Amino acid sequence: MAMTRERFHWILVGLIIGIAFAMLGIGSSHSADTPKSGQDLVDYREKRLKAASDAMQALQQYDGSDAAIATAAAKTIDDVAGEIVGLFPEGTGPGGAGIEKTRAKAEIWSDWAGFEARAKAFDDAAALLTAAAATNDVGQIKAAMGEVGGACKACHESYRGPKQD
Ligand code: HEC
Repeated sequence: MAMTRERFHWILVGLIIGIAFAMLGIGSSHSADTPKSGQDLVDYREKRLKAASDAMQALQQYDGSDAAIATAAAKTIDDVAGEIVGLFPEGTGPGGAGIEKTRAKAEIWSDWAGFEARAKAFDDAAALLTAAAATNDVGQIKAAMGEVGGACKACHESYRGPKQD
């Protein structure tokens, strides 16, 4: 059967839509790479929290000389605060499938509302920090860091177990 002009036209349209979706796929490859379960997820969330910890350290030494340093560090912390609830899906605690090592306590899931409240307090403090970083006022940044540090600590006290070997 010979290809009609009409049919060729629709194949072309399909091709363009296909390419557009493929490009969207490339754009969102970051979330596609994020592990969803098992030890890979535990390692990934520890890596993200470590990034927040490094950003806190950078801010501790911050002297007001380069606003870009403060805003970048605040952004890292704010990003992690936005991700944290999603990094603890059910079944990724001690004894979960494929999990060999985690400091996450089972209480995270038996008291999910409490854990969410801790995550929200962290997110609120991170928003304060973002606003403070935008002013580049060292006093405000240090004050907001106090709030953030308190939110890290409060969650760890209830939901993070002791260090493992
Ligand atoms: C809502 C709860 C919560 C908040 C808020 C939180 N953490 Fe954590 N954090 C945890 C839990 C639970 C773990 C253990 C994760 C695991 O091992 O699976 C953890 C792990 C970590 C780790 C990985 C290293 C290790 O040995 O545990 C670091 C570093 C860390 N947190 C730093 C921070 C810092 C810094 C902040 C604040 C900027 C913060 N966390 C805020 C719950 C929280």
